[in-house]
Amino acid sequence: MPQTVLVTGGAGFIGSHTCVELLRSGHEVVVLDDHSNSSPEALERVAKIAGRPVAGTHIADVRDRRSLDAVFAHHPIDAVIHFAAKKAVGESVQIPLTYYDINVSGTIALVSAMHDHGVHRLVFSSSCSVYGDATTVPLTEESPTAPTNPYATTKWTCERILADLCRHLPDLRVLALRYFNPAGAHPTGLLGEDPRGVPNNIMPFLTQIAVGRRAELGVFGNDYPTPDGTGVRDYIHVVDVAEGHRAALDHIDDEPGMRVFNLGTGRGASVLELVRAFEEASGRPIPHRVIERRPGDVAELVADPAKVAEAWGWSARRDLAAMCRDAWNFQQHNPYGYVH
Ligand code: UD1
Repeated sequence: MPQTVLVTGGAGFIGSHTCVELLRSGHEVVVLDDHSNSSPEALERVAKIAGRPVAGTHIADVRDRRSLDAVFAHHPIDAVIHFAAKKAVGESVQIPLTYYDINVSGTIALVSAMHDHGVHRLVFSSSCSVYGDATTVPLTEESPTAPTNPYATTKWTCERILADLCRHLPDLRVLALRYFNPAGAHPTGLLGEDPRGVPNNIMPFLTQIAVGRRAELGVFGNDYPTPDGTGVRDYIHVVDVAEGHRAALDHIDDEPGMRVFNLGTGRGASVLELVRAFEEASGRPIPHRVIERRPGDVAELVADPAKVAEAWGWSARRDLAAMCRDAWNFQQHNPYGYVH
């Protein structure tokens, strides 16, 4: 059934790819984004790929109740996908209050606006970082949570708040999706990751080295208890993540209340494995040097993706080579991102 979906943070990396999937599946999409870490150009490109534009774009902060009320008053919203948040682990240690304000207060403002306008379906962007320094991998949704930085704690806190709200507001349905490490880009080369300033995440760092914007990768430590000593992560193609959201909308009415799902591949790759895969995909050498560990980093995070596969028949289909190829394709076509 086609729905009208409000996507907060819809111009961002995961948000824009999700808008494409929703439009292609026949849904109407309304975007709310303040462009604090995204470009309006991304939505032009979404329209180009999907063959039709989003039904509405609202440039606003997700904490702004007046803007939220206006959006819900103007569009017959059936469901909300909430991406708008801050997500840099290191920055969250520097400015924790800003993280609590945007990520937690923003979620509360959104859910209260939904409640007041009779909207009861929410897909919430959570993170594998809620698991903290995992003692055993792969991680199931039942694995203990122990966030190790303010960013992760805001996601964990939102999950707790949403679970409690679901206990007391019987109409509310929430799916919290714990993403592992989204990477890659749209295969058209039109959409991708375009961080402001120095990238925090490894894949945009690699693509910026390959395109000549940065000299070398600092590998954050090679003394972790992993096969080659470097950090192991479950990288998942952003188009797989976007398709996961489409599946989430199809299944949000399966059960009442709050449900939590991992979105990962179940396969881990070390920093050095990723560097090699990227060199192969791009045909360019990636100069790299081992430096100190990054504070707050953990050794290994890999998903057990069985629960979502069983519930929705969804699983990630694209491998690390595709993530590297598509990320490189986007960077080559957009060496400075969305700026012209
Ligand atoms: C972190 C969060 C994740 C969140 C993501 C969003 C944790 C454990 N994970 O992912 O939940 O969704 O940020 O931003 O908090 N690396 C280098 N050199 C670099 C950059 C990274 O060696 O210049 C290494 C890291 O040490 C790590 C791996 O590459 O082992 C991936 O790092 P990154 O892309 O920053 O993601 P996470 O820190 O895993």
